[in-house]
Amino acid sequence: MQGIDISGLAVMNNHSRYCCFSLLIFLILSSSFYFSTAQNITVTHFLRDSETLISSNAVFKVGFFSPTNSTNRYVGIWYNIGNSDHDLEVVWVANRDNPLNDTSGVLKVSDEGNLQVLNGQNNVFWSSSNDADSSHQGNSSVARLLDTGNLVLLSNANGTIIWQSFDHPTDSWLPQVSFTVKEEADQNNSVALRSWKGPMDPSRGRFSFGIIPRNLPEFFTLDGDKPYWRSGPWNGYLYVGVPFMHSEASTGFNIIDNHDGTLYVAYSVGDKSLFERFELNYDGLVVQKFWDNDYNEKGKWEIKWQSIESECDVYGTCGPFGSCNPHTSPICTCLQGFEPKNMAEWSQGNWTSGCVRRMTLQCNNTAGKADKFLWLKHMKVPDYAQWISTANQDDCGRKCLENCSCLAYAYYSGIGCMIWNQSLIDIQQFSGDGVDLFIRLAHSELVKS
Ligand SMILES: *[C@@H]1O[C@H](CO)[C@@H](O)[C@H](O)[C@H]1NC(C)=O
Ligand SMILES: *[C@@H]1O[C@H](CO)[C@@H](O)[C@H](O)[C@H]1NC(C)=O
Ligand SMILES: *[C@@H]1O[C@H](CO)[C@@H](O)[C@H](O)[C@H]1NC(C)=O
Ligand SMILES: *[C@@H]1O[C@H](CO)[C@@H](O)[C@H](O)[C@H]1NC(C)=O
Ligand SMILES: *[C@@H]1O[C@H](CO)[C@@H](O)[C@H](O)[C@H]1NC(C)=O
Ligand SMILES: *[C@@H]1O[C@H](CO)[C@@H](O)[C@H](O)[C@H]1NC(C)=O
Ligand SMILES: *[C@@H]1O[C@H](CO)[C@@H](O)[C@H](O)[C@H]1NC(C)=O
Ligand SMILES: *[C@@H]1O[C@H](CO)[C@@H](O)[C@H](O)[C@H]1NC(C)=O
Ligand SMILES: *[C@@H]1O[C@H](CO)[C@@H](O)[C@H](O)[C@H]1NC(C)=O
Ligand SMILES: *[C@@H]1O[C@H](CO)[C@@H](O)[C@H](O)[C@H]1NC(C)=O
Repeated sequence: MQGIDISGLAVMNNHSRYCCFSLLIFLILSSSFYFSTAQNITVTHFLRDSETLISSNAVFKVGFFSPTNSTNRYVGIWYNIGNSDHDLEVVWVANRDNPLNDTSGVLKVSDEGNLQVLNGQNNVFWSSSNDADSSHQGNSSVARLLDTGNLVLLSNANGTIIWQSFDHPTDSWLPQVSFTVKEEADQNNSVALRSWKGPMDPSRGRFSFGIIPRNLPEFFTLDGDKPYWRSGPWNGYLYVGVPFMHSEASTGFNIIDNHDGTLYVAYSVGDKSLFERFELNYDGLVVQKFWDNDYNEKGKWEIKWQSIESECDVYGTCGPFGSCNPHTSPICTCLQGFEPKNMAEWSQGNWTSGCVRRMTLQCNNTAGKADKFLWLKHMKVPDYAQWISTANQDDCGRKCLENCSCLAYAYYSGIGCMIWNQSLIDIQQFSGDGVDLFIRLAHSELVKS
């Protein structure tokens, strides 16, 4: 039965119980044909446009699809749950930049042992060999869709994975997908997901998602090469700039320092994890979706969390030394001790130039009174945190005060001491959780209030 989309039939029956009888017979008859091709893809068993291959747990499907309102044909992986062929939840696309314009396509293993998408004229539209890390294995390779939604190309000689879709995500991060980032990599090498261009176009869009190698691991969404959203640093359990995670029993993330200049980043959420994923939308939002089986008796994909809830989540909305609070009007204020850099722009709601310091810091000038720290609670800490080794929070504050270039510090469990020595950007006031942030100010700024 694995070749038949059982859930699809159930939905059809709901809609028109009688007319579908002949269709049902057709599907049962054709299922024997499906059966012969649905287990794996090899040089001789290839997948035609009209066929799909279903994982043995029946959760995922690989086949040809067209996005809504498009006639382009793509090979993709989507969920085989709910009304899956109507509301496609595509999690991976092979030929995202190179669609077929008709239904003559096939997905097959080439004589050289690569997984390929070809059209009716045998033109190659996509090949696993385009990915630098795959190697030619001879024609004994076989491709399978695993229960996790991973399309793998195996060497028949020893079962080794030659290539896998999990190493080449498109816009979705499925549970069990892990990736390795170089700590010193440029932004291009740390990209994990790349958005679709639009709702009907899976080709590479403007937005990407990954870990920008900074002092502390942190997720970023980039719009082109500019930061669009950041998660705040990782503390070994959660991202400190994502308040939602503080209430989660388990975030599912793991980051391991491989001690070879690379980080291993993984996401998995236990047994039910197949029905949950992260997606980078074409409009730049990272969305965590889960399958709500009980919804309206049919089930539905629902949003559990999204990266941008308000303008305050957009990177640097209030500029340097500005702080954002979505519950105030206007949303941007200058940190205490700072004033708008350009009052005309600021009062018109253009906050990008941010704020400047009113009273210069004394630093360690013994003639004046020593600088003090302004204590802000429940904050999204600014970008560009640097980690330094300290014994405790007091020690962190002392080390910051002793160092003329230290403008702020924070101490957080799992991370320790973070200090900042440049413009403080992308600060947000949360209504709970977050981090205690200490901003260095001239002594007189603090006695004033
Ligand atoms: C592919 O699946 C078919 C049908 O189940 C099976 O007969 C064949 O041995 C499989 N081939 C490989 C290489 O696994
Ligand atoms: C598809 O086209 C219909 C009719 O033109 C339109 O109402 C709908 O919004 C379109 N869907 C998408 C995803 O663009
Ligand atoms: C479809 O694409 C092929 C090349 O892949 C091209 O020769 C053909 O003209 C296209 N057909 C249409 C209707 O655009
Ligand atoms: C693949 O198999 C065909 C015939 O089965 C053979 O002629 C060819 O040499 C093989 N190719 C490789 C790369 O092993
Ligand atoms: C499996 O075979 C390939 C060549 O076909 C080889 O590169 C690889 O090292 C082998 N792996 C193991 C675990 O033997
Ligand atoms: C990153 O990729 C973009 C577009 O492909 C390119 O213009 C840019 O030079 C690359 N940056 C680096 C540091 O390689
Ligand atoms: C906001 O101010 C910046 C800096 O002066 C300027 O580059 C930008 O065009 C302004 N944006 C708008 C929407 O006026
Ligand atoms: C301030 O500290 C720096 C080193 O941290 C030192 O070089 C400088 O002399 C000190 N200045 C004063 C006024 O103490
Ligand atoms: C002050 O902090 C900066 C980093 O913010 C660091 O590079 C520098 O070495 C520190 N100076 C001292 C004297 O610790
Ligand atoms: C901040 O500290 C880093 C690392 O010590 C240093 O490379 C950078 O020049 C410093 N920036 C400023 C503005 O002091």
